Amino acid sequence: GQTLHLGIAGLGTVGAGVVRLLRENAQAITARAGRAIEVVAVSARDRTRDRGVDLEGLTWHDDPLALVSDPQVDVVLELIGGAEGTARGLVEAALKARKPVVTANKALLAIHGAELSAHARENATPLLFEASVAGGIPAIKLVREGLAADRLLKVGGILNGTCNYILTAMRESGRSFDAILNEAQALGYAEADPSTDVDGWDAAHKLAILAGLAFGQPVRFDSLHVEGIRNIAACDQAFAREMGYRIKLLGLARRTEEDGIEAWMRPCMIPHSAPIANVDGVFNAVSTEGSFSGPMLIEGRGAGAGPTASAVVADVIDLARGTTLPVWGMAPKAAISCAPRTALRG
Ligand code: HSE
Repeated sequence: GQTLHLGIAGLGTVGAGVVRLLRENAQAITARAGRAIEVVAVSARDRTRDRGVDLEGLTWHDDPLALVSDPQVDVVLELIGGAEGTARGLVEAALKARKPVVTANKALLAIHGAELSAHARENATPLLFEASVAGGIPAIKLVREGLAADRLLKVGGILNGTCNYILTAMRESGRSFDAILNEAQALGYAEADPSTDVDGWDAAHKLAILAGLAFGQPVRFDSLHVEGIRNIAACDQAFAREMGYRIKLLGLARRTEEDGIEAWMRPCMIPHSAPIANVDGVFNAVSTEGSFSGPMLIEGRGAGAGPTASAVVADVIDLARGTTLPVWGMAPKAAISCAPRTALRG
C-alpha cells in the first residue's frame, strides 16, 4: 500500500520517542501495518534543541496548525499536551479538516473528550488516544475492544507513574520528596508542571477517560474527587509498613446501585499481600471488573518515552490498517457527574 505520512506536533520526550521507534522498528511496523509509515513534517517550539534524533529532511513548521494544511501530512500526531490552547485548537482543526488525529493528551481528552469526539463523529474522522492512559499498557484497547462484550462495574488502578515512582522510592530509600521528583523529571516521567502529577490531576484525567469508555458515557471531570500525594511523609509510609500496608495513589470509578457513577483519586492504604500493592516504581496498573470477565489487573510502564511512543504508534498502525473504532462507540450522550465522595461506601 501507499506510505502513511505523519505530521508530529510536539517533540518532547514522547515526540522524539515516536520518531525513534518508527525508525528502529520500521521493518516490523511496515509488515504489521501493511504499508510503510513515515514522519514527513514536525512542529515544535525550539528548532535547535538536540533531541537525540535526526530530523534532517523533515519539513519544519513553526505553527503546528500548518500540519493540518500541509497536503503531504495524512495523520496529525498531537504530542504537545495541555487541555487548552494550541493542542486543543490543533486537534479540533485537524478533525474539521478530516485529518485523523492520534494524541497522548489525557488532560484534553478528560476535559473536552465529549466535544472532540462529537467533531470526530461529525467529520467521520478517527481520533485515537491509546497513549493518553497508562503509557505502554493497552488500557484503551482493553476497555473498548477486549471487554467490548462485557458490562463493566469498575475501572481504575494506579495511573500516574511519577507518583508511584515517588512513593516507591520514598518507601525504599527514605529520600526526600523533592530529590525523587527531580529524578522522575530527569527520567522523562513527570509532566512539564509536576504539580499536575503530584496533586493527582494527571491520574484523575486518565481515570475520567477510562470511566467514560467503560460506562459508555463521558464523565464530568470537575465532579471527580481528586487528592494527590503531596502530604504523604516518609513516616506515613513507615507506619503503613508496620501495619502490613503500602500507600498507593489509587483511582476508582464504579457504577452505583442507582445506575450512576462514583469516582475518586486519592492515596490509599493497601494490604501488601494484594497484587496491586506490589506494582512499584514507574509502573501503572489498570484494573477492571466486569459482570462476565470478572476482575482483571494489568501492569506495565506508565510513563516515559518508550512505553508512551509504543502506544502512539499502535494507534498509527490501526489507522494504516483502517481498523479504527468510533470514539465512544455509541451515540453521543451528555457528560454525567460522579457521585460526591460522601456517597461512597466500602
Ligand atoms: N506524568 C505522567 C506519569 C506521564 O507520570 O504517569 C504519563 O502520562
